[in-house]
Amino acid sequence: MTSVFLRQPEFSALKPYWRVIEILGRWPEQLNGRLLRNGPALFRRGDVCKSHLLDGDGFAQCWTISRGNIDHKGAWIQTHKFSDEQHEQTFIYPGFSTGGRSSTSLILPDAFNTANTNLIAFNGQLLALWEAGSAHEICPTDLSTIGLKTWSEETAGAPFGAHPKFDREGNLCNIGISGNRLLVYVINPAGRLHKIRAHTVRPTAIVHDFLLTDHFIGVWLAPLELDRQCLADGSTLLEAMAWHDDRGSQLLLIDRKTLDIERTFQMGSELIFHFCNAWESTNELIIQYIRSHPDALQHQLEFADGLPQTELRSTTISLNNGKTTEERGPTCTEFPQIDQRFRGRTSTICFGLISSCSQPTAIYDGLFRHSSCDSQCQQWFAESGIELEEHVHVPMDDHAPEACGWLIGTGYDNKRGQSFCSVFDSEHISQGPLAIAYLDRPAPLCLHGEFLRDK
Ligand SMILES: [Fe+2]
Repeated sequence: MTSVFLRQPEFSALKPYWRVIEILGRWPEQLNGRLLRNGPALFRRGDVCKSHLLDGDGFAQCWTISRGNIDHKGAWIQTHKFSDEQHEQTFIYPGFSTGGRSSTSLILPDAFNTANTNLIAFNGQLLALWEAGSAHEICPTDLSTIGLKTWSEETAGAPFGAHPKFDREGNLCNIGISGNRLLVYVINPAGRLHKIRAHTVRPTAIVHDFLLTDHFIGVWLAPLELDRQCLADGSTLLEAMAWHDDRGSQLLLIDRKTLDIERTFQMGSELIFHFCNAWESTNELIIQYIRSHPDALQHQLEFADGLPQTELRSTTISLNNGKTTEERGPTCTEFPQIDQRFRGRTSTICFGLISSCSQPTAIYDGLFRHSSCDSQCQQWFAESGIELEEHVHVPMDDHAPEACGWLIGTGYDNKRGQSFCSVFDSEHISQGPLAIAYLDRPAPLCLHGEFLRDK
C-alpha cells in the first residue's frame, strides 16, 4: 500500500486543521490567491481498508497565499455517503472497486457520490465534482458543504462531469454520461442552465474529460463498456468494466450552438482520461491529450506497483475525410495543463506530471514542459521520496505570452512526512521550485483543482 492511502487524516474532528510551518525559497510577490484542491481521502474505517484510489471520500483543501503568508484549510465534503457512514462509523455504500450493502445497480449515483475529483469556483461558490452524479456546492469561506447542486428539475441527480470548461463568454460547459445516455450542459455565467441536450450514444463506462473548441464540444467514447448484468449480479463497477479493443473509439463532435452531434469519427482504441487542448484550423481539428494504455487502467487508478503507460499525443484530424496524423510526446505523463487563456485555440506549450519510473512509492515525481513548436521537453525530477500532484498554470499577467508565469501545485514528502505546496517558474521548471511551503503533517492526496488569483 502506498503513501496515498496512508495519508488519510484523522477525521474524529470534522474540521481537520493543518499549519504551514516552513517556507523554503522565495514566494513570488505577484502570486496571491487561493489554490483549490480536491481528492480522495478516506480509505479506512475500523478494520476495513479500501485499496482503490477512486473509492476515497472527497476532501476539499484551500491554500491561501497573501503577500508571503500561506494558510491552509481542509474539510470533508459532506456527501450523503460520508454523512451516513460517519454516523454509523462504518462503510455502507459501494464504491468504484468495492461492494456495499447495496449494489450500485440498485441505488442512485448520488447515494454513493464521493465528490472526490475536482474543486472549481463558479458564480460565487465552489463546486466539488465527481462524474457519475451531481456536483456539490461548497462554501468558499470555510469549505463547508452546502448540498447537492441542482441545475434544473429534469437534471437533478444526473451525471455532471469532473472537468467542466469555461468558454470565452464565461459559460460553463460540461458533459455527463451514464451508459448510453450523454448529457451536454451549457450553464450561463449567472449559474442558470442555458442549454441541455441528451443524446443516445454508444455505451461507454468512463468519459472523464472532453474537448472544447470554438465550434465543437468533442466527446471521446473509448471501447470501455460496463456489463450491466455483471453489476446486477453483484460485481463492482471496476469488475464490470470490459475493454473491447476491436471496436475502436468514437470521437463525437457536438455543435456548440445546436448541441446536435454534427460528426462522428471512428478512431483507434485508445483510453484517454485527460485532454490538454483542442482547436480548429482550416478543415482540421487538432487534439492534444494523454493517451493511456488499457492495460494500465487498473495500475493507474489503483496506484499499484505498475507505472502508468501514458504518453502525451497530438492528433490532427482532417474534417474533410477523417484522416489523422499523430505526433508523440513524453511518456509516463499525466495531469496535463495549459495556459487556460489558450483553451480552444492554438497553443504550443503543455505542462504536466511525469514519472522517472524509479520511485517505488511515487507515481509522479517530476514536472514537464513540452513545446510542440520544436518538440523540446523540459523536465525536473524531485529527490527520492517526493510525490508530486497536479500543478496548474498561472499566467504572469493578462498580457503575458503563452505559458509565461508559474506552475503551482501540491505534493507529499515521504521522508519529512509532510505535504507541501510548491511553485515553479513555468518557463524554467528544470531549475526546480522557486518556493515550497510545508504543512506540519501529511494532508490527503489531491487530484484536481484550480488557482483563483486575487484581483
Ligand atoms: Fe481528471
